[in-house]
Amino acid sequence: MCGIVGYVGARPALGIVLDGLRRLEYRGYDSAGVAIVCDDELRTEKRAGKLANLEKALGDERFGSTRAVDQAAASPPAIGIGDGTAGIGHTRWATHGGPTDRNAHPHLSRDGRVAIIHNGIIENFAKLVAELEADGVEFVSDTDTECVAHLLAAALADLRDAGEPDGPQLLAAAMRRVCQRLEGAFTLLAVDAGIPGAVVGARRNSPLVVGRGPGEHYLASDVSAFIEHTRDAVELGQDQVVLITADSIEITDFSGAPALGRDFHIDWDASAAEKSGYDYFMLKEIAEQPQAVADTLLGRLTESGEIMLDEVRLTDQDLRDVDKVFIVACGTAYHSGMVAKYAIEHWTRIPCEVELASEFRYRDPVLDRSTLVVAISQSGETMDTLMALRHAKEQKARVLAICNTNGSTIPRESDAVLYTHGGPEIAVASTKAFLTQLVACYLIGLHLAQVRGIKYADEVAAVVSQLQEMPDKLRRVLDAMEPVRELARDLSTANQVLFIGRHVGYPVALEGALKLKELAYMHAEGFAAGELKHGPIALIDLGTPVVCVVPSPAGRGMLHDKVVSNIQEVRARGARTVVIAEEGDLAVAPYADDLIYVPRTPTLLAPLLTTVPLQVLACEIAAARGHDVDQPRNLAKSVTVE
Ligand code: AGP
Repeated sequence: MCGIVGYVGARPALGIVLDGLRRLEYRGYDSAGVAIVCDDELRTEKRAGKLANLEKALGDERFGSTRAVDQAAASPPAIGIGDGTAGIGHTRWATHGGPTDRNAHPHLSRDGRVAIIHNGIIENFAKLVAELEADGVEFVSDTDTECVAHLLAAALADLRDAGEPDGPQLLAAAMRRVCQRLEGAFTLLAVDAGIPGAVVGARRNSPLVVGRGPGEHYLASDVSAFIEHTRDAVELGQDQVVLITADSIEITDFSGAPALGRDFHIDWDASAAEKSGYDYFMLKEIAEQPQAVADTLLGRLTESGEIMLDEVRLTDQDLRDVDKVFIVACGTAYHSGMVAKYAIEHWTRIPCEVELASEFRYRDPVLDRSTLVVAISQSGETMDTLMALRHAKEQKARVLAICNTNGSTIPRESDAVLYTHGGPEIAVASTKAFLTQLVACYLIGLHLAQVRGIKYADEVAAVVSQLQEMPDKLRRVLDAMEPVRELARDLSTANQVLFIGRHVGYPVALEGALKLKELAYMHAEGFAAGELKHGPIALIDLGTPVVCVVPSPAGRGMLHDKVVSNIQEVRARGARTVVIAEEGDLAVAPYADDLIYVPRTPTLLAPLLTTVPLQVLACEIAAARGHDVDQPRNLAKSVTVE
C-alpha cells in the first residue's frame, strides 16, 4: 500500500505534493520521490527511507528559485523543481524490489521525459518486462512499476507518430492504451515533460480520489493528502482514467468512453482522514483485510499453475529434500503458524512443528540440511524470531521467511521469502497481517506439495481459487459485524472471557484471546476445546462468556459434533456461549446464547473468516473500556529485544 499525490494548478506543485506525502506516510515509508514538470523538463528526486530523506535531498530547491536564487543575479533563475506547477509524488510500501533509491518511485522512461508512480501490484509484470527487454529496454530497477513507464512512453510515441495532436488528451489516450495491457491491482499517476499543466491517473482495484479546487486539482490515494486545500472530492470507479488540468477534470473508462466519478464532500478532519474516517487504525486495518488477502494472492500463480515465491535462494530440489518443517514465530504470527501446521501436514504429509521463537533455540532442536524452518513475522525485525532463524542457519537448516515488510532483517537473512502484501499495519494489534500470513502459509504448503509431486497444478489451482473467493466472503463477514459490536458493549464489563476451538479453530481461539488480552487488558484464555474437561472447565462461573469457534459440519464431521458437545458442557455449567459457526449450521443454535455466522468455507481456510469477529469483538470491548486501541499499554509494534 503506497501513498500517491498529484497536483495541477497555479501554485508551485512541489510543496503541495510533499505536504500530501507527509499525510500519506502512514501508508508506506520505505522510500519517497517526486516528479515535477518544469518548463519542458521533468525534474525528479527520490530517496530510500522516510520522506525526510527526500526533503533533505531537495534542500532549498523545494522552496523554488524565488527563495534559493541570488537576488542580484542578472538573468532570471532557471526554473527549479520548486517552481513547476504540475507534479506527482509517491511514498512507498515495497512489494516488488527492496526499499532502495533505485526502486523508489517515480519510475522514468528511457529518455527521462515520462514519470509514473504506482500503488498496487502489476500481476503480469514479468511477461511485460520480458517483452520490453526483447525490444531492447534496459531496466534499472527491480520493481513491477518500471515496465509501466516504458509502456506509457511507447504509447505516447506511437500516438505522436500517428499524428495525434500533442497535449493533455494525448497523455490520457496513452494511459488508456497502457491500462488495457495491465493485470492486477493498480493506481497510476503520470506526467510528461512535453505536456505541461496535466496529470493523468488510472485505477483498478486500488483507491484514487480527485480533489476539486478553484483553478487547481488534486489526485491522491486518499483525501488526507489534500484535505487542507479542499473538501470537495470525486471518487473514481473501477477501470477509470482521469485527466486533470488547472481548470478541468475528465474521466473516461479504459476504452475512452466518458465516465462519471462520484462527487462527495469530506466532513473529516485531517487526522480522521489518515484513518479513512475510522476511529482507529485497527478498525481501518480490519476493514482492509479483503484487499490485503486479495493482494497477497495476486501474481502468485505462474501460467502453468506453479506458486511463485518472491525471492527464492532455494531450489526445487532443496524443497524436495525437506523431511521436516519447523515454524518459528511470536504472538499472532505464532498463531498463524499453528494454522499452517494443519495445512502443511495435510497437503504435504511432511511433519511440521510450530515453536515459539523465544523457546526454539534453547531446547536444542534437532535440525539439519533437510529441515525447513519457516520464520513468520509482520515486522521482519522481531528479535526472538531473528535469533531463532540464525540458530537454524547455524544448524544448516534452510530458512523461508513470511514477512510483511520488504527489505527487513528477517527476509534478508533467510534463504527464501514470501512477502505478504498487507500494506503497513500501524495498529499494534495485528489483524490484516494475521490473515495475510495465513494466505502465505497456505501458498507455501501448496508450493511444497506441488514441488514434491503430491499435488498436481490443477489441485493447487483449485485451492487457490477457493482462496480467491475469500475477499468477497470476508466483505460479507465485515458487513455483518453490528451484532458483534453490540455484544462487545455487553461483555465490556466481564472479568474474563474464554475461547475454545478444535483443529484450526484452536489457534483461532488463542488468537481471539490474545487480541482481548492486549487490547482490553482483560483475562482471556484460549483452549483446545477437548482440553476443557482436563481442568480449565473449573474456570466457568455463572455467565462466564465462552467464545466457541465451531468447525464446518461439512468438514471432518466428528470435529463438529465434538465441539457442539463441548459447548453443551460449558453451558451446562452456566457459561454464556458466544458461537462462531458456518452459515446453515443449525445444530449449534440451541446451545448458543449469541450466534455469529460466517460464510461456508473449506475447513483449512476457515480461520480467514472465523478470526474476524474476534478481532472486532476485542477492538470494540477495548473502545468501550476507553483504552487506546491502536497503542495498548506496555506493548510495541515491533519487539526488537529478546
Ligand atoms: C499481535 O497482535 C501482537 N502485536 C504481537 O503478538 C505480534 O504478533 C508479535 O510481536 C510478532 O510480531 P511480528 O509479526 O512483527 O514478528
